[in-house]
Order: sequence, then C-alpha cells, then structure tokens
Amino acid sequence: MRRQPDWDNELSKDTKQRRHNRRRSKGNADEQYMDKESSEFIRSLESSKGTGWMAEKKYKRMFTEIEEGLSGVLGDGPFEWVDRRVFDAVFDRLTLMSLYKLMKSGIIDTLDFPIARGKEAHVFHGTGENGPIAVKIFHTSNAVFKNLVQYIEGDPRFGGLRRRHRDLVDIWVRKEFRNLSRLEKWGLSVPKPLGTHKNVLVMEYLGTDTAPSPRLRDVEVADAQSVYEELLEFLAVTWQKANMVHGDFSPYNIMWHGDKPVVIDVGQAVVQSHPKSQEFLVRDVTRLVEWANKNGLDVELAEAMYDVLEMDLSHIDMKQEEE
Ligand SMILES: Nc1ncnc2c1ncn2[C@@H]1O[C@H](COP(=O)(O)OP(=O)(O)OP(=O)(O)O)[C@@H](O)[C@H]1O
Ligand SMILES: [Mg+2]
Repeated sequence: MRRQPDWDNELSKDTKQRRHNRRRSKGNADEQYMDKESSEFIRSLESSKGTGWMAEKKYKRMFTEIEEGLSGVLGDGPFEWVDRRVFDAVFDRLTLMSLYKLMKSGIIDTLDFPIARGKEAHVFHGTGENGPIAVKIFHTSNAVFKNLVQYIEGDPRFGGLRRRHRDLVDIWVRKEFRNLSRLEKWGLSVPKPLGTHKNVLVMEYLGTDTAPSPRLRDVEVADAQSVYEELLEFLAVTWQKANMVHGDFSPYNIMWHGDKPVVIDVGQAVVQSHPKSQEFLVRDVTRLVEWANKNGLDVELAEAMYDVLEMDLSHIDMKQEEE
C-alpha cells in the first residue's frame, strides 16, 4: 500500500506558519520557565562581566568551558564514568548553568568523579580554589515525579508543575546550606559550606584523593565512649545553642573523618519552633543511644535525653563568623 503523503506537505505555508506561531506563543509553562531562566541567566552573566559578549558565541563557549570542567565525570579524566542515563538525569540544562555560575565565581574549578548516589542527590568530588570540594547535585526530577508528570502534563490546570518542583528543590538546597552555616557557626563538626546555586551545593570534601571517608556505620571505632560523648554534645549544642534539631541523625549521616565524626545531610534539620522539633529530637537521641549500645556501651535513652537538654554548655561560644 502506498504511504499517505505527509500531511505537512498538504498544508499551505501560511497554515504552517500559524501553527508554528501558536506553538511558540503558548508553549507550556515549563518551557517558558526554562526559556525565561536561560535568558535571565545570560543577561546576568553579561551585566556581571560588562562586556557585550552575546548569546550564540558565548553560549557555545560556556558549554565548552563547562565540558572542560566536567571532563572528569564525562570520562576523559582519570576516573572513567560514563553512564549516559545517569548523566542525563543529573546534568540537565539548568544544572549545567548552575555549575557554570559556580565555576565563574571560582567556587568550582572542575568536577572530577562521582562519590555517591543518594535518594535525592548525587555527590561528586570536585576541585575548587583551595583544593578538593564535595559537590552535591540535587535531582530535579526523580522517577516518581516523572511518572506523575505524564498524567498531569498537558492538563492546563497543572501548568508549570516541573517548575514548581524545581523551586522546591532550590529552596531545599538553600536550607541545607543555611543549616550547615548555622551549625558551623557554633563550632559543630560539619563540612564547611562553600557555596550554592539553585540545585547545587558545594562544601568541604571529606576523604582522600581517591575515595570519600567512610560512614560511621561502616567503621569500628576504638573508643566508642568518647565518640558517644562527642555526638551527644553535638546534639546538645545543636539544640541548646543553635536552636535546631538535625532530624535524620544516624550512623548513615555521620562520616568518620580524621578519626572524628563529622555530621552531614542537614537539609531536613529544623528550628526548635517547628511543631515536630521535639519528636525529631527524641528520634535523633534514640538513634545515638542505639549506636552506643551496639558498640558495647550501656546507655539509657532517658539519661541521654536529660544530658542533651541540660548539659552545661557555658564554655561554648558562637564563632565570630558571618554566614
Ligand atoms: N562533604 C562530603 N565529603 C565527602 N563525601 C560526602 C560529603 N557529603 C556527602 N558525601 C557522600 O555522599 C553520600 C550522600 O550524602 P548525603 O547523605 O548528604 O546525601 P543524600 O542524597 O541525602 O543521601 P541519602 O538519601 O543516602 O541520605 C554520603 O553518604 C557520603 O558518602
Ligand atoms: Mg544521607
């Protein structure tokens, strides 16, 4: 049977143009959002540099530069890691732009190799002005979300869903950055926050040239008592001084670095006024007590709770550093 002629060929030029225009003007809210973000981004780069480099040429150069910076994760570097699917999931257009922004401001020099893949983010080893950095890139679309989107996209009542999801992720990342800053100000053992832009968070790297430090759950400590006391004080200072609670305190979110515990993953930490802060605190202390008892100590929850709430911390002062 003969193929139907291409319907497009049957349309007059005029009709085609009209169709094209309509598509362009309506677009969908997500596309419009992406376009708006792109042009705003380019404008902000222009004004910050003052030179009139414009769209095409500079845009291309930007991506070449990003590509150079990303050569480690793209597979030309010493660490081969080419997984197209993962790459596409992590490095979408806006994420590349955020990386570029952080590269321009000198916070990121190169992105070298992936360290870990969490539920919400990929963490990479990178290099910055002063040496190694950890770059946590939050997923802006996850499998669950993608599944939902297919039912909702195209339904005019839900325009801009992807965009709203992105906004939420960005807020979450800023929250993790601020939480890290606040805890750091109180001298607590967390990775030093170095910078953030949209869904990308840059912080001090904990590990060696080739691998991140292990998590507390993966090591056997020589002196469980002193580690317990240190972590108990961490919870006490966080609560009494920083007026916060971690909310997901566990040996999975504590790294063992330089023979000391360093607490990570503070995005969900909340301030005391949060309606669930006390519930979170009890849960955090419970996790620590479980760890202690697994490691040969004999600790009671009530006693630990009392310590966290009443421990004398008059010797602890805020470091004189601004956020
Ligand atoms: N500053 C850092 N230096 C080195 N490695 C890090 C750093 N921060 C995180 N990691 C590594 O990345 C892993 C995931 O980090 P994190 O817990 O912050 O992310 P997440 O997406 O919340 O992960 P999950 O869903 O597994 O809790 C950590 O277990 C650790 O191995
Ligand atoms: Mg975690």
